[in-house]
Amino acid sequence: MTEQKRDELRTDEAVPPSIEGSVFVGPDGVKKVLRRRPPLLEIESLNVIFGENQVLRDITLKIRRGETVAIIGESGCGKTVLLKTMIGLVAPTTGRVFFKGQDLSELSDKKLTEARSHYGFVFQMAALFDSMTIEENVSFPLRQHHKEMSKRAIKERVEYLLEEVGLNPRVVSAKTPSEISGGMRKRVGFARALAMDPEIMLYDEPTTGLDPIMSDVVNELMINARDRHHVAGVLVTHDMKSAVKVANRLIMLYPHALLDSDEPQMIFDGTADEIWRCSDKRVSQFIRGEAGERIRDMSMED
Ligand SMILES: Nc1ncnc2c1ncn2[C@@H]1O[C@H](COP(=O)(O)OP(=O)(O)OP(=O)(O)O)[C@@H](O)[C@H]1O
Ligand SMILES: [Mg+2]
Repeated sequence: MTEQKRDELRTDEAVPPSIEGSVFVGPDGVKKVLRRRPPLLEIESLNVIFGENQVLRDITLKIRRGETVAIIGESGCGKTVLLKTMIGLVAPTTGRVFFKGQDLSELSDKKLTEARSHYGFVFQMAALFDSMTIEENVSFPLRQHHKEMSKRAIKERVEYLLEEVGLNPRVVSAKTPSEISGGMRKRVGFARALAMDPEIMLYDEPTTGLDPIMSDVVNELMINARDRHHVAGVLVTHDMKSAVKVANRLIMLYPHALLDSDEPQMIFDGTADEIWRCSDKRVSQFIRGEAGERIRDMSMED
């Protein structure tokens, strides 16, 4: 780790956000400017190639505490792969991913497990354990990482988490995932992701397959996680309504195979207001749900 990175790590823990960037006078009378806190997550020149298939090229991205970033783009462009690199489930072919200044690929298995305990991951499908009850599903990370917690404390925590996501613990705790609806399963997945008090939440298509009301419930949960629990978020979604409502910043990826060799793969990085004004046709057609030239491109890919 460079000297600078180590320095930033120290100030990250010590400096409250309210005073970062401000000037103070040290005991020696010398004026100092407090360094801005480093991003929670930092991706540097990331490339991911599977065999012959390059999926991600030269992605550089920072996620700061308290911000939620939406990643949009058409099916197969690499959104889930990018999300998985953020938690070390997919290793970069080249490039680096830092969580709180630590390069994930340099961590031992034990340290990586520890780092991952600061993440919450809401999977594309709810990904619950079918043979476990809802209570056992939600308590799973606690039983893995907090062996010191008593059964009673775990039960109380599970009840709190289920209530947080709008489920009645008395009604759902003893059921199995097949006995509750898809929308409820998503919320159980959400409760499980919150169990460890994460610093960052990764959401993969959390609203896909849900009716509009249930989608909005999930949107509110994501906003709640950001605003009440001060959790950073990365939201992969096709749902523009959700992206605009929940995210402070949107990023759009374009399929690598359709890019010229010198074009960036991240074709947009900005706010919701900016994306509606974006003049890049690939962006404006995607967010308005228009196929445009893509029908012709797709037939040429086959
Ligand atoms: N483990 C893997 N091994 C080989 N190829 C993979 C692997 N994971 C993903 N891919 C390939 O990477 C590409 C991007 O996949 P990814 O799942 O990230 O797409 P996506 O943007 O999330 O799509 P969708 O919106 O449909 O979920 C696809 O071509 C996929 O086949
Ligand atoms: Mg995906």
